Amino acid sequence: MDLIHKFLNLVAPSFTFFSLFFILPPFYLFKSFLFILRSVFPENLAGKVVLITGASSGIGEHLAYEYGKRGARLALAARREKSLHEIADRARYLGSPDVIVIRADVSKVDDCRRLVNETMGHFRRLDHLVNNAGINTPCLFEDAPPDMANFRTIMDTNFWGSVYTTRFAVPHLKNSNGKIVVLSSAASWMNDPRYSVYSASKAALTAFFDTLRIELGSDVSITIASPGYIESELTTGKFLEEDGNFQVHQDIRDVQIGPVPVASVSGCAEAIVKGARRGDRYVTQPSWFRMTYLWKMLFPELVDLGYRLFTLARPGGPHQEALNKRILDLTGLQKVIYPSSIQSPEIKTD
Ligand SMILES: NC(=O)c1ccc[n+]([C@@H]2O[C@H](COP(=O)([O-])OP(=O)(O)OC[C@H]3O[C@@H](n4cnc5c(N)ncnc54)[C@H](OP(=O)(O)O)[C@@H]3O)[C@@H](O)[C@H]2O)c1
Repeated sequence: MDLIHKFLNLVAPSFTFFSLFFILPPFYLFKSFLFILRSVFPENLAGKVVLITGASSGIGEHLAYEYGKRGARLALAARREKSLHEIADRARYLGSPDVIVIRADVSKVDDCRRLVNETMGHFRRLDHLVNNAGINTPCLFEDAPPDMANFRTIMDTNFWGSVYTTRFAVPHLKNSNGKIVVLSSAASWMNDPRYSVYSASKAALTAFFDTLRIELGSDVSITIASPGYIESELTTGKFLEEDGNFQVHQDIRDVQIGPVPVASVSGCAEAIVKGARRGDRYVTQPSWFRMTYLWKMLFPELVDLGYRLFTLARPGGPHQEALNKRILDLTGLQKVIYPSSIQSPEIKTD
């Protein structure tokens, strides 16, 4: 047995190296041809039924507008009902022929079942499921409460919320040869300190939906979106507290994002819908963020060092001491590189 592995240890690297020259060029030529074809003939969304979770703010809200503009009928879900109704009105104004609002908490399996059932009850079909609802709690692992309740809520919402909803939606999506869009994150490979469980929830989503794509084959296509920093309530600094409530903490937000430009939410939503219509496997917005994947592959030690230097204060020191925060405080750079919508701590309350 050991001999087989010794043989494979020699053969696998050489095979991989040669495949870069012989398999990669024709494969990418073929992929480019398909990409052009799908760009010329993208999916027509007029009349299609799209269920979006986490549609009451940020990326989900703007996805509703992008789908609405293209004539899709919408089911919008989240916990803040008043915001959902305002967004539904705007989506109708932009061109959606029919919009329903469903109050649901995706961390509860019964709510996920109900939101799919209500969508089917109203529209009788489902073409796209957009698993967008997500939250974060910036917290060093050693500072987490012993029961880690805040960490479990992240997993329940970000990972299980998407998995539950998908479980109930898949039979309907198979009937319509539909699509799943899922909001993972660049954090699934770029592992910011204080985001350990958030990053894990996003990496879990990517692994889960990459596997599901193989299981479902051509019946349902899956687009995994992995945005970098995008303007939303999350990048305004809205985070889950240990007591289960949400508060805005812009100083922690500054420590985490630092002098990295935050991209517009409308551009992000447009890129995701464009990618979904083309049937892309992955969408990263802004697209330069794809390079961070290469950085992580090629020099992981330097990426780790950068995070330690820029986001962590001295041991026991307050997070405000972190270099990222000091750079922003000294230069006032956030006024230029953060969209105005996330500069003040106001968020929607209901
Ligand atoms: N902004 C970024 O830089 C960025 C980057 C990468 C990935 N993402 C991902 O993009 C997605 C959208 O986030 P965002 O940036 O647009 O933040 P956001 O403005 O805070 O939106 C989050 C949405 O999720 C909903 N939500 C949260 N918990 C929920 C629950 N238990 N049940 C139902 N809905 C829930 C919120 O609505 P209610 O509070 O009304 O329920 C809200 O509509 C998230 O999955 C996030 O992880 C964001």
